[in-house]
Amino acid sequence: MADGTPGLAGRARAGDPPPWFEAHVFVCCNRRPDGHKRGSCAAKGSEGLRDYMKARAKELGLSGVRINMAGCLDRCEFGPTVVIYPEGVWYKVETKNDVDEVLAAHLVAGGRVPRLMLTEHHVPPPKEPKRQTDERTREQRGEEGGAA
Ligand code: FES
Repeated sequence: MADGTPGLAGRARAGDPPPWFEAHVFVCCNRRPDGHKRGSCAAKGSEGLRDYMKARAKELGLSGVRINMAGCLDRCEFGPTVVIYPEGVWYKVETKNDVDEVLAAHLVAGGRVPRLMLTEHHVPPPKEPKRQTDERTREQRGEEGGAA
């Protein structure tokens, strides 16, 4: 994992059923209101790109590949985001040409598209601590236990 912990890779066990798909592609189609500080992938065109990817995968005969729309994948700032499992490789896919390149290089040929890959250096900004928000809310309501 990006933080150096071992993560979930390699957790397949003897006796597990075989994978249902050879590859599972998640395309973030989350949409936030215009002006949201994190933006959203749908606002950057991900819904159309997902439809295009699905149609092209079918045309290419990629029967073992499932293209799914996903909710927010929490790397909004770097979207439109796509993640491919079981590899866990992330891409920023902005155009139909990007889609074609990922399909051909990654899903057909088993390679990678380095120019589009998100890496461990693509880290969203830290979230605001929830406790502060709770304290502000309590204080605003005039409840005990709010910030002094
Ligand atoms: S809106 Fe797409 S990753 Fe969050």
